[in-house]
Amino acid sequence: MANIKFFSGKTTPIEMHRVRIIQKLNLLPIDQRWKAVKQAGNNTFLLKNDDVFLDMLTDSGVNAMSNDQLAAMSQADDSYAGSATFYRLEKALKHVFGTEHFLPAHQGRACEHILSKVFVKPGQVVPMNYHFTTSKAHITVLGGEILEIPVAEAFNITSTCPFKGNLDIDALKKVIAERGKEGIAYVRMEAGTNLIGGQPFSLENLREVSKICRKNGIPLVQDISLLSDNLHFCKQREAACKNMSIHEIALAMAEASDIIYFSGRKLGFARGGGICTNSKQYYLNIRELIPLYEGFLTYGGMSVREMEALAVGMYETLDEDVISQGPQFIEYMTNELVKHNVPVVTPPGGLGCHLDARTFLPHVPQPQYTAGALASALYIISGVRGMERGTLSEQRNEDGTEPLAHMELVRLALPRRVFTMSQIVYAVDRLNWLYQNRDLVGGLKWLDEPKILRFFYGTLEPIGDWQEKLVAKFKADFGDSL
Ligand code: F0G
Repeated sequence: MANIKFFSGKTTPIEMHRVRIIQKLNLLPIDQRWKAVKQAGNNTFLLKNDDVFLDMLTDSGVNAMSNDQLAAMSQADDSYAGSATFYRLEKALKHVFGTEHFLPAHQGRACEHILSKVFVKPGQVVPMNYHFTTSKAHITVLGGEILEIPVAEAFNITSTCPFKGNLDIDALKKVIAERGKEGIAYVRMEAGTNLIGGQPFSLENLREVSKICRKNGIPLVQDISLLSDNLHFCKQREAACKNMSIHEIALAMAEASDIIYFSGRKLGFARGGGICTNSKQYYLNIRELIPLYEGFLTYGGMSVREMEALAVGMYETLDEDVISQGPQFIEYMTNELVKHNVPVVTPPGGLGCHLDARTFLPHVPQPQYTAGALASALYIISGVRGMERGTLSEQRNEDGTEPLAHMELVRLALPRRVFTMSQIVYAVDRLNWLYQNRDLVGGLKWLDEPKILRFFYGTLEPIGDWQEKLVAKFKADFGDSL
């Protein structure tokens, strides 16, 4: 991280890059934003990007590429089998993680699909620090079950715990004692735990989990999609990592796991994905499914241009200036919101700034999709697109009942190297206004609810006329401002 002190004494994170290609943005007037969200069924996934001002939906596949990544794309070797591009990517992964074998897949959930098919049998359980939507769906669709056993602090929205993504070691020992090796498909550790606010685990915790898994002959699978943030936090927050380089931490994390897999849409600032392992046996078992579901072994459903960018992005992940920009901007945004009493997840994590919808809108009950309502309201009053990460992102139980999410969050993702400081300041300003006017926001109900991964394309409508009142108040306060 660049150590730059300000004469004023105020610390502002500085971009250690310059912008050379830009995309023009459009901020629609509020009436058009309201119309757009209505057409999108109050689901921010269904908004058209042309109608969005600051797209904070996700960091997936939308991180800015470097000049080196763009340059590398032009040397892509477009052959079905034996592409030189594949060997460059394989070499990069071997260098960064010290793993012998690489199996390409078209994105993170494709890795999850294949790993679940190889490892999960009906009735087996997958203990994990926390689920991600697609990782859970691939396990449960095969008759497996997930068991979330993070440390208790994981669910404390406001906390000073530096590693809320840690696994509860005693709970792991207990589940192994109860279910035995045969009852457990694998243990899954997710770096930069997405759904609880981008919270990291410590290297120490991962090593402890690894020791227990190895002693009991249970595979440890690590989802490293959000590893770059986790590496930054280990370096910043973990005493044992202070004197380690980012590369040494990455190698240690890979060494502790039997299998690592990633979404290249996040890790490596590109697209695609893949699975790495040192085990010949796991490699052979997984390899059978790659040509069946993804593509031949030297591209796995990825475009060779993306693979070239991914290879360069992997090397860039070892550069502290590169990986610290996201978490520093997130920390800045989170701290500014705290100053205005806007409820957010603390400590600041990776991936994005996370609003705590239940504290923001205590009058909107969870079955009315508190976080979904907040995401809709935020878009209407600002053109900022966030993502619901709460009850709406869950799926119904077999009997049709609805599990209420542990946390009801709106994620404001900061894709890496994309937003400038003034854009963050704008988002904070509008959030401050919305918080002052929170009583105007009401709940949502379904218009059309899909059975699987309903949050992606389900549609909802407001309960009552709260959106009309919100728009009227915005106009009264802001006049003809966009
Ligand atoms: N694992 C984690 C931790 C993720 O955050 C994601 C994707 C995946 C796996 C699946 O990867 O999208 O390439 O298939 N997260 C995106 C998000 C979708 O917006 O947080 P994918």
